[in-house]
Amino acid sequence: MAKVDLSRISLRPFKLTDVDDFMLWAGDDEVTKNIRWKTCNSREEAQTFIKDVCIPHPWRRSICLDDHSIGFVSVYPWSGDDRCKADMGYAVASNYWGQGIATKAIKIALSQVFNDFSDLLRLQAFTYVDNKASQRVLEKAGFLREGVLRKYTYIKDMKICLDQKIILGESSISQHKFKLGGSNGEELYDTKVPLKLKVKFYWTIIRLTMLYETEC
Ligand SMILES: CC(C)(COP(=O)(O)OP(=O)(O)OC[C@H]1O[C@@H](n2cnc3c(N)ncnc32)[C@H](O)[C@@H]1OP(=O)(O)O)[C@@H](O)C(=O)NCCC(=O)NCCS
Repeated sequence: MAKVDLSRISLRPFKLTDVDDFMLWAGDDEVTKNIRWKTCNSREEAQTFIKDVCIPHPWRRSICLDDHSIGFVSVYPWSGDDRCKADMGYAVASNYWGQGIATKAIKIALSQVFNDFSDLLRLQAFTYVDNKASQRVLEKAGFLREGVLRKYTYIKDMKICLDQKIILGESSISQHKFKLGGSNGEELYDTKVPLKLKVKFYWTIIRLTMLYETEC
């Protein structure tokens, strides 16, 4: 594919008419595997998601190439005493990776969100520790690496907790037990989880914060 001229990249709110373009990337497991979104499996699902989630979102923009949706960037502001901060998320259609599109989209977003949210001082983004492309994008856009967050969140509909010893960074993880459970709250120890899977969960649960802050 010919290299995209980045002046053709723009951000705008989602529209219901984006659905066919949206399916091309939001229906791709490669794009959704590192974000909280479920992969869209049908046009109807995509339409509902655009209508009920993307359009009402406080600040979610479609990354567009010549006005066709090829990804998204979102900024979710906190409220109350935490109104100084917001979380950023983004993704780009996999056939456009490696061309500077996410970096360009984030830079456009940075030029807008501090005006759109007057209390905003701190923009934070979380990436998996092994998502090097995403970390590089954030660095190129001016974010600073702040730290690694352990035992920080649940991933999609799977409730996963790690044994505290793992959290404390012991060198061998094979001897530790994993707590696995379903979304209905039941918890069980599964000592039969193969080591390979345990390693994956270990890397999955650890996230990295990248920070973009203004002077105040
Ligand atoms: C992460 C993502 C948004 C990057 O989009 P993109 O448009 O390819 O990003 P850019 O082209 O602006 O920059 C990518 C950078 O990462 C680098 N990179 C890519 N893979 C890499 C790897 N495995 N290790 C190190 N660097 C890597 C590229 O070389 C490039 O850096 P460079 O310009 O210095 O060469 C895209 O891969 C994506 O949508 N992934 C799935 C969703 C996701 O992970 N979202 C972020 C959640 S935190």
